[in-house]
Amino acid sequence: MPILPIFTYPNPILRKKAVAVIEFDAELAELVADMAETMYEAPGVGLAAPQVGISKQILVYDPAPSEEKGNYTALINPKIVEMAGEEFGEEGCLSVRELCAEVKRAYRIVVEARDLEGNELRFEAEEWPARVLQHEIDHLNGILFIDHLSSLKRALYKKKLKKILDAEKSDDGREIAR
Ligand code: CO
Repeated sequence: MPILPIFTYPNPILRKKAVAVIEFDAELAELVADMAETMYEAPGVGLAAPQVGISKQILVYDPAPSEEKGNYTALINPKIVEMAGEEFGEEGCLSVRELCAEVKRAYRIVVEARDLEGNELRFEAEEWPARVLQHEIDHLNGILFIDHLSSLKRALYKKKLKKILDAEKSDDGREIAR
């Protein structure tokens, strides 16, 4: 199973609203397995399909990765149907280089989704798993965690990223494929 390339901000694929999956087939299962492998390799606790350049409503997550690396959940066409409370917590993103920041999220959520076979799921999550899910489901709607920061923090980050990208360009004189 291949490790997939991760697309990073400001790649426009990250801003597209992902389309719903209608076929629950072997191809979907294969993509999910590759996404999980890519997530563990990165390493990360969640990965949404747009982050690997596929604009479909698919995510994998494992809020508490262990040595076994098999304990992830795949959600297809997930939606948050209830939200309650609020909590600040630190977030980073495999698609947002060199930034960690405090983000306000709902404390408790209810999610509806489908599994790999197309069966309907409905479950509750709280605290950290709820945070991971809100972050990943945002990706499926073209939203990044930097969108939840103040405009000042976002502007500072854009400046910092520009410096990083400029330095990389002058390092090897070609565009990095991101
Ligand atoms: Co992310």
